[in-house]
This record gives sequence, C-alpha cells and structure tokens, in this order.
Amino acid sequence: MEKDGAKTYVPVKWSAELETGFADVDAQHHTLVGLLNKAGAALNASKPALLEHLLQELIAYSQYHFETEETLMRRCRYAENAPFEAATHLNQHRSFTSRVHVMYDTLIEDGELQPRELLDFLSSWLALHIRHTDQLLVHFLAQASGWERK
Ligand SMILES: [Fe+2]
Repeated sequence: MEKDGAKTYVPVKWSAELETGFADVDAQHHTLVGLLNKAGAALNASKPALLEHLLQELIAYSQYHFETEETLMRRCRYAENAPFEAATHLNQHRSFTSRVHVMYDTLIEDGELQPRELLDFLSSWLALHIRHTDQLLVHFLAQASGWERK
C-alpha cells in the first residue's frame, strides 16, 4: 500500500460536466474513466502487472474511441463546416496518442516515469478534452442533425 496519502490516486468522479448527452460517446467516455479508475486502484493496491494490463487496455480503447468520434466528424462534415474546431480536435487526439505511447514506454521499459505521472496525465487530459473539445463536437452534431440534447 502507498503510505504517502498525497501519492494515492484519487478516482475521477463522473459529473454532469463530463456528460455530452450523445449516448454512444458518453458510454465510451464512461468506459475510459472506468479503466482509468481501475488502473488507479491497481496502483494504490501495488499491483503492477494489473496496472500495466489496464493501461494497455485504456490506451487501446482510447484509439477505438477516437476512431468513433472521427467517424462522426466525417459524417457531419465537421472539417468543412467548422475547420478550426475539427483541426484542433484531431490534433488533440494525435498528440495524446503520441504522448501516451512515449510515456507508457518510459514507464515500462526505462522505469524513469512514475505510474502516477501517467495516470495524472490521463485524468487531466480526459477531463479537459471531454469538457471542452468533445462538447463542441457534440454541440455541432446536434445542430447538424437536428438532434435534441437532453
Ligand atoms: Fe475527442
């Protein structure tokens, strides 16, 4: 067990701010946050093999999730209709992907990164990205399709 309370991973709490109102996207965000919190619990319980497995799962699922969002973007012609927002969104997905792979390799292969640093990066990135960038996309999808948000 982690003795230093300040180093204990505190789970991300789901809140209304993380809810986009688009059921498929929300379900995938729930899965991502769930995997992150499970990884945090594995860290707190000093289970490195489980932590490594959950991080792999989370990284793979994030790629699947980005593909889902990017398919939605293509379907509603986001790049044509909101080029700045679309480019920003895609750049955030790309930079997350490259950064998280570097961090994972540094953690697993070099041991020069603390797992907590990767978890902190994941939790702050996800919360910020969902609250701002994904909300913009869903707002656009709602306008484009006439679909009503909850
Ligand atoms: Fe996104």
